[in-house]
Amino acid sequence: MEVKVAKSAGFCFGVKRAVETAYKESEKDGKVYTYGPIIHNEEVVEELAGRGVRILETEADLYQIREGTVLIRSHGVPRAVCEKMEEKGISYIDATCPFVKKIHRIVDEESRKGRHILIFGNDSHPEVEGIKGWCNGPVTVIQTKEEALEFLKKPVEKLCIVAQTTFNYNNFQDLVEIFSKKRYDRLVFNTICQATKERQTEARQIAKDVDAMIVIGGKHSSNTQKLYQICKEECKNTYYIQTLVDLDSDCFRSIGCVGITAGASTPNNIIEEVQEHVRTEL
Ligand code: F3S
Repeated sequence: MEVKVAKSAGFCFGVKRAVETAYKESEKDGKVYTYGPIIHNEEVVEELAGRGVRILETEADLYQIREGTVLIRSHGVPRAVCEKMEEKGISYIDATCPFVKKIHRIVDEESRKGRHILIFGNDSHPEVEGIKGWCNGPVTVIQTKEEALEFLKKPVEKLCIVAQTTFNYNNFQDLVEIFSKKRYDRLVFNTICQATKERQTEARQIAKDVDAMIVIGGKHSSNTQKLYQICKEECKNTYYIQTLVDLDSDCFRSIGCVGITAGASTPNNIIEEVQEHVRTEL
């Protein structure tokens, strides 16, 4: 079986940084918490739990911490969360990805200047919740063309557009196009992470050339879900798995070439395991 593995598969810079910080902190004395799972990967989260790193699921849990250190994951958090932790004397390490931090700065500054902030992304994703929390005025989250057309009806004059770092680049361009038709005083920041763009482009190229495509990543990982959609558009035999256990060998009968890619929160050992299995067992 011929196998093509995407070079861009696996941990991105921001995730690697946050996960390494969690491992480093787990080696020190004292309690360590992460506010939400550090990444959308059950294996890593379980391993960290084995090292004593606990997850705080809600804001209420967070503010009850009396000792230890809280790690803010790469998605980032609203400003109010940082302020409240400081107010309560909770020690924390901010592992927000610098690319996400940059969006926080943009929306903070531009909303102070009176611009309506428009975020292209998924409203319920923690990264977007974090970004909203750095705006100092009106903010709207848009994901579809229909939502964009609806927004055009609003009496807004000054706009600032940013995107969730994992937003699909083609969709970003389509949405920007819609807003360019109306005479806004607008600023557009393409804040899609380069790592995401490269991963998506490479996945699409590989998916075009193979008979079947495997996309590896956590169920809740939004960037993996998008990779899956992209690959499925190019290759109808695209399969979304979390680990090797989910791989159904029957789907690969009479297939000559398989492509593999993985989301930003998929550890290398899982990718290697799948790759090895496909090469030798299928
Ligand atoms: Fe950061 Fe890009 Fe990863 S924004 S967390 S390097 S996908």
